[in-house]
Amino acid sequence: MTIEEKKQELDEIAQEIRDFKGLEIANNCLNAVPGEGDPDAKIVFIGEAPGADEDAQGRPFVGRSGQLLRNTIIESNIKIDKVFITNIVKYRPPENRDPSPEEIEICSDWLNRQIQIIEPATIVTLGRFSMAKFLPDAKISQIHGKGQEIEYQGKIYFLVTMYHPAYAIRGTSNMIEFKKDFSNLRPMAINALKLRRC
Ligand code: URA
Repeated sequence: MTIEEKKQELDEIAQEIRDFKGLEIANNCLNAVPGEGDPDAKIVFIGEAPGADEDAQGRPFVGRSGQLLRNTIIESNIKIDKVFITNIVKYRPPENRDPSPEEIEICSDWLNRQIQIIEPATIVTLGRFSMAKFLPDAKISQIHGKGQEIEYQGKIYFLVTMYHPAYAIRGTSNMIEFKKDFSNLRPMAINALKLRRC
């Protein structure tokens, strides 16, 4: 698929997400947050669900934890305009509660299609909810910062499981762990690309 075709398909998915009315959180949000970035990204970041700032702007990771995520990506020598950033749930759950299994399930088809179209070499999950999509039985405290090959929807991806940036904001030692994990991301992503090209 060309980049233009990828962009067009991602735009169509974004419009479906904006038009959808089948969940209470979809009807009550200010803006749906489909995700944004390079349609041909080699790395896709997947968070949990939009918060108040994301809901206000219709863009992922633009609040406090989003600024931390974006700055940390840049500090890791990864070009921010070359990645794609999205969430497992595309609408803000009220009071920032955890997304429900139904909300995750209903939004999963859009995320699956986004991954299929972009076909990144590396998928980075942020926090336990997005990690559980790929590794339902894993514990984030044991595998944060680590990478592994997975097969998903019939394709091979390199999956890196990171803590959520909101976790990093909760304390100095969390922040140190979060930044340390990210410092290994670029070499892992380069390696994943090399394996993809073999
Ligand atoms: N937290 C998330 O998981 N996603 C966002 O887009 C913002 C905050």
